[in-house]
Amino acid sequence: MTTKPGILYGLGVGPGDPDLLTLKAVQILKSVDIVFTAASTKNDYSLAVNIAQAHIPAQTEIRALAFPMTKDRNETRQAWEANARTIAAATAGGRQAAFLTLGDPLTFSTFGYILKYMRRLFPELPVVTVPGITSYQASAAALNMPLVEGEQSLLVLSGANGGSRLARQIEQPDTVVFMKAYRNVNGICTALEDADMLAHSAGVVRCSLPEQELVADVTALASRAPNYWTLIIARKTDPYAAQED
Ligand SMILES: C[S@@+](CC[C@H](N)C(=O)[O-])C[C@H]1O[C@@H](n2cnc3c(N)ncnc32)[C@H](O)[C@@H]1O
Repeated sequence: MTTKPGILYGLGVGPGDPDLLTLKAVQILKSVDIVFTAASTKNDYSLAVNIAQAHIPAQTEIRALAFPMTKDRNETRQAWEANARTIAAATAGGRQAAFLTLGDPLTFSTFGYILKYMRRLFPELPVVTVPGITSYQASAAALNMPLVEGEQSLLVLSGANGGSRLARQIEQPDTVVFMKAYRNVNGICTALEDADMLAHSAGVVRCSLPEQELVADVTALASRAPNYWTLIIARKTDPYAAQED
């Protein structure tokens, strides 16, 4: 006798505003047996549950999985593998599980690691990824700043280690998004200045949440206490300048 496999949904819940959850995510949240979220000692990942809470039936189990914020590769590998095994066990007997992530599940997300381990350890388990509105899409909307037009290019990168990766691009993008712009703002600003992009840059903190802040002078972010929910969008040119058509 074969047992029916369950399903794992990687569910993006959007940047923070519960109204930015997709209809598909809402539908799935109502039907799954268990909801997983990533818990870390450093960041408030339960925010993902808060965003989705109104659509999770009271009887649905919600379980936080620990993802240690450490550079110790062995420790992280063990945690990811243990979490993959927990998810696989929860989907036994045809049960369905959703793993919640802020923004989009395939954009700088813990779900990317879960996906790798599920593929490797439990290739028979169906995995369905449901996209979410990313923090940079929501931030561009909050700034009313077009990201790319015509033949332009967009580079999305981590600013956790500063801005040197922007300088290393063979062809500079028209627009750059620095995610994780909470610790190395000085390095990011230097890279933006060198790339001639500082004048048309803006920071967004806690986008789409009630505490949202739009920061016109990104250099001012360097002198503030770092906030994890910070990103910077910069363009080479003024997005509102009249075009020579
Ligand atoms: C691990 S990444 C998660 C990205 C997420 N998966 C997405 O699609 O937007 C965390 C970084 O995303 C950015 N971020 C996520 N949510 C944000 C928000 N509401 N406002 C501003 N930045 C946010 C910040 O740069 C933060 O350091």
